[in-house]
Amino acid sequence: MKNFFYDIGTKIYFGEGSIENLGPAIKPYSDKVLLCYGGGSVKKTGVYDDVVNSLKASGIEWVELSGIEPNPRVTSVNEGVRLCREHNITAVLAVGGGSTIDCSKVIAAGVAYEGDAWDLVIGKASITKVLPVFSVLTLSATGSEMDPTAVISNMDTNDKLGVKHPDMRPVASILDPKYTYTVSKYQTAAGTADIMSHIFEIYFSTVKSAYIADRMAEAMLKTCINYGVVAVNDPENYEARANLMWCSSLAINNLLSYGKGTAWSVHSMEHQLSAYYDITHGVGLAILTPHWMRYVLNEETVDKFVEYAKNVWDIDCDGDKFAAANKAIDKTAEYFKAMGIPMTLTEVGIDETHFDIMAEKAAAKYANIFVPLTKEDVKNIYRMSL
Ligand code: NZQ
Ligand code: ZN
Repeated sequence: MKNFFYDIGTKIYFGEGSIENLGPAIKPYSDKVLLCYGGGSVKKTGVYDDVVNSLKASGIEWVELSGIEPNPRVTSVNEGVRLCREHNITAVLAVGGGSTIDCSKVIAAGVAYEGDAWDLVIGKASITKVLPVFSVLTLSATGSEMDPTAVISNMDTNDKLGVKHPDMRPVASILDPKYTYTVSKYQTAAGTADIMSHIFEIYFSTVKSAYIADRMAEAMLKTCINYGVVAVNDPENYEARANLMWCSSLAINNLLSYGKGTAWSVHSMEHQLSAYYDITHGVGLAILTPHWMRYVLNEETVDKFVEYAKNVWDIDCDGDKFAAANKAIDKTAEYFKAMGIPMTLTEVGIDETHFDIMAEKAAAKYANIFVPLTKEDVKNIYRMSL
């Protein structure tokens, strides 16, 4: 196990009715927040009303930024920064999924920086000061509600990049599983695939001695497998939504990666798909993952896949190791399909046009990954996924 420093600072208020904690959680930090949300689902579902009622009850004023896009754009970040300055905002409140939370984090970081917020994303400028961030989660997927990362897109340059700062981790997040009842089947499936991918990115690692992290990872993968299909078919199943929601946070809040690190093998490939084709993140991951698994399965990695087969899918692994490993990969693909995810790039409108540049950008990001991948390897995986 590698050395680590444990620091997961986000307060989580979990469960039905936990919105009543929102105002009291913000009040010590701010009397005036930027209330950020996406394309309007929060108004249709009633979450918006619950949020403003909680703010009012605590005497907190707000200014709104709406219309934050899935795969949030840097233009929205800059608009949020402008509003914060104009209205002397002292905290940022995200109400929505990962896109809204990510956008809010970089707004919070951008207020203290005079230039274009894109400079902070590409590392041209450093993040120095971040307004306190709060979130009310409405979609179980990215874990942004409890992690220090934001992923921002710039469609002018076809770049989608992650930026990280410890102070961007939300101070507090409200996790009410009922707020996810209205998430579509498609987004529920994509979100579950995203959670699973975050776990895979840590589980399949060059570090072989982190027993506790691997057993926790297997428990979380089983949770996703147990409840993903249930939530797709029975959207108001509280247990399913609750388990997925908590799993979303735990998968990527560093708990699993302490002692191991995270590889981001498939995420780097997927972010290029979203950057060029604006597809749903979890769908891209589900399409690529089984092909990536098949590509990196070899004499050196087979034992890890056997562990996965045995402990996650309960596959009998007494015979040929490669047969068991391949069966586990088949099961993974079948599960994504059973949730209704399209399983080829062709189905989501992607062809070979940009493979070269996408593969180059993805490969440039790799460091310490499970199995090293070159640009040609990434292109091969893209081709296998067509
Ligand atoms: O915009 P609205 O109207 O709110 O609708 C959203 C959006 O269309 C809808 N939705 C959300 N909650 C809903 C709902 N519809 C009905 N009822 C609800 N309760 O769902 C759609 C997708 O929302 P979005 O926020 O884009 O989804 P997700 O949470 O999957 O976030 C995806 C973004 O997060 C990034 C992804 O790359 C992508 O840009 N990621 C962020 C990470 C992080 N911060 O650590 C890590 C991830 O790996 C990922 O890269
Ligand atoms: Zn992800």
